[in-house]
Amino acid sequence: MRKVLLTGDRPSGQLHLGHYVGSLKNRLALQESGEYDCFVFLADVQALTDNFATPQKVRDNILEVALDYLAVGLDPQKTTLFIQSLIRALPELTVYYLNLVTLARLERNPTVKTEIAQKGFGASIPAGFLCYPVSQAADITFCQADVVPVGVDQLPMIEQTREIVRSFNQIYGEVLKLPEALLPSEGLAQRLPGITGNDTKMSKSLDNGIYLADDEKTLRAKIRQMYTDPLHLRVEDPGHLEGNTVFTYLDVFASDKAEVARLKEHYQRGGLGDVKVKDYLFEVLNAELKPIRERRTELAKDPGYVMQVLKEGSARANEVAEETLAQVRRAICIDYF
Ligand code: TRP
Repeated sequence: MRKVLLTGDRPSGQLHLGHYVGSLKNRLALQESGEYDCFVFLADVQALTDNFATPQKVRDNILEVALDYLAVGLDPQKTTLFIQSLIRALPELTVYYLNLVTLARLERNPTVKTEIAQKGFGASIPAGFLCYPVSQAADITFCQADVVPVGVDQLPMIEQTREIVRSFNQIYGEVLKLPEALLPSEGLAQRLPGITGNDTKMSKSLDNGIYLADDEKTLRAKIRQMYTDPLHLRVEDPGHLEGNTVFTYLDVFASDKAEVARLKEHYQRGGLGDVKVKDYLFEVLNAELKPIRERRTELAKDPGYVMQVLKEGSARANEVAEETLAQVRRAICIDYF
């Protein structure tokens, strides 16, 4: 039996280069390895926990993120792509798992803690938001996932899921699989900074991202705006690499490492202008993004097809979920008929 892999994203915005290097590329490699039964999903229910007053935004991003998925090469023949809210077993599993978690433990979850501070909930934390790690445990266990490829920020979620699984199995018998996080390899694990640099990660709210859907003109304009070295005023001045976003991106994306080394040396010595380096970065990024962009534009002409993929994937995920739910109901003695 193949191992099961599951991961997903909140549909709260289009996917950007940070998602691409931090998770999408890794998922593709895992899909292509053929070693896993893959499930990738749009976590609309989770997106609603902090966007419940703007549901249309979540709705619109279902199609956008699905387009991003298909454009980068997630293949519905190899990966089950589905929508969280269509899996009716998930809220039911969540209710049973809520008995196995304390409020104090939820409040200690580092990821949730950070988000609560960021969103300024203060003392008025919506219960649905506080409990989303429990619903995430349902996401991970409905298909008995062995591995969950995520970024480091999601480790506390996997840890909390593991605690729930251990507790469930201890009380009700061995029913649930204990999942493991799968982190991206070294090079990809670092957070990609936004175009404004200064260690801020790429994010929609900061308006500093490069999106997979950006056209060539936008890509060029964004690279031209990129933060470099504020002390590098004239071409002949020596430039600095530290905190220089353009070089950070070259380190991540350029495959010709020797050329990058040459550019770095020249830049530090003086005599190499920012625009030259930026134009090189444009060539590198555009070569990688062009095929993705073209596929995305093509797919966007037929939203009916994309929604059909999600519908069929959701039907398949539902079958798997119903099996697990039946086992869970039996284990907790509520399989009456
Ligand atoms: N919490 C994840 C995020 O914010 C999305 C997500 C929801 C997820 N359920 C999941 C990821 C289950 C992996 C497994 O990106």
